[in-house]
Amino acid sequence: MKNLLKLQDMSTEEITAVLDLADQLKYERKHNIPHPHLAGKSVGLIFQKSSTRTRVSFETGVYQLGGQPLFLSSRDLQIGRGEPVQDTARVLSRYLNMIMIRTYEQKEVEDLAKYGSIPVINGLTDYCHPCQVLADLMTIREKYGVLDGLKMTYIGDGDNMANSLIVGGLRMGMKVAVATPEAYRPDPEILKWASQNKDFTFTNDPKEAAADADAVFTDTWVSMGMEEQKEKRVRDFAGYTVDDELMGLAKPGAMVLHCLPAYRGYEITEKVFEDHADEIFEEAENRLHAQKAVMVKLMRDNA
Ligand code: CP
Ligand code: NVA
Repeated sequence: MKNLLKLQDMSTEEITAVLDLADQLKYERKHNIPHPHLAGKSVGLIFQKSSTRTRVSFETGVYQLGGQPLFLSSRDLQIGRGEPVQDTARVLSRYLNMIMIRTYEQKEVEDLAKYGSIPVINGLTDYCHPCQVLADLMTIREKYGVLDGLKMTYIGDGDNMANSLIVGGLRMGMKVAVATPEAYRPDPEILKWASQNKDFTFTNDPKEAAADADAVFTDTWVSMGMEEQKEKRVRDFAGYTVDDELMGLAKPGAMVLHCLPAYRGYEITEKVFEDHADEIFEEAENRLHAQKAVMVKLMRDNA
C-alpha cells in the first residue's frame, strides 16, 4: 500500500491487515505496551475543513507511535493563498515522512500523492472518507467477530460516507443496502461498480434498506461546504430519519453507527442515538486505532 487515497485502492487482504493491526494497537494501548513505530518520523496534518475527531485522533495517534505530528491549517499555509498543490507536495516531501490531508476535492489529494514522494492519507474529501470507514469496519467486526455475510445499511445523503461505506462493505463481503432520496444518490461510478455485485441494493425507500440489517449507518444531511443548502436539504430528506420505527425493521440487537458530528432530530432521533451511544463512541475511539494502523502499514510498506 503506497497511500490511502480511497478504499477502492485497498484489497480485501490489505483492509484485513489494517483491521488486525488496529486491534493489536488497541490492545497494546489498553495494556500500556509502548509501540513507537513512528519514532523519529514527522507527519503533516493538513486541514482545509473543520475537524474534531480526525485532528485529535491523528495528532495523538502520531504521538503515541513516537512520532511528531504537525497540525497545518490551510488558513496558515501558502496553499490557502494559491500556492499550487504540486509545489506544496514536493516541498513537504523534503521535510516530512507522511501527510494526512482533509480537503474538498479528491483531485487535490490525488495530486498531493502524485507530485510528492511520501505516503498520503485522505482524511476526508467531498468524495470519500476512508479512515472513517476503516474504523467503522473495525467496530462492526469487534461486535460480531466477522464482517463477511453481515448486512450493512446506509440511510441518508449519498455523500462521502455513503461512497466509502459501499466500497468498504462490499470489499469485506458484506451485504450493503443504501437508501437515499433520488436527487442525493451516491457517486455514479461507485453505484455502477456496486450494482454489479449481487450483495448490493440501492433504493429510495429507507424501510426496504433497513430490513434485516446488522448495522445501520447514517450521516448528516448537510456536509461541510453545503451549509447554504440546509433548508432545502432538511425538506428533501423528510422520511429519512433513523428512528425506532426503522430500527424495528432491522435485526434485533442491530448496531447503529454514525461518523459524527450527529444532528439529533434530523438524520437520527435523540432516542436512537442515545440507545446506541456506546457503539457510536466506540466507533469514534476506533478512529485512533485504525489510523495508527494505517500509518504503521504505510511506513512498513514504503520502507
Ligand atoms: N467523523 C469525523 O471525521 O469527524 P471530524 O469531522 O470531527 O474529524
Ligand atoms: N459527510 C460529513 C462527514 C463529516 C465527518 C461531511 O463531509 O461533513
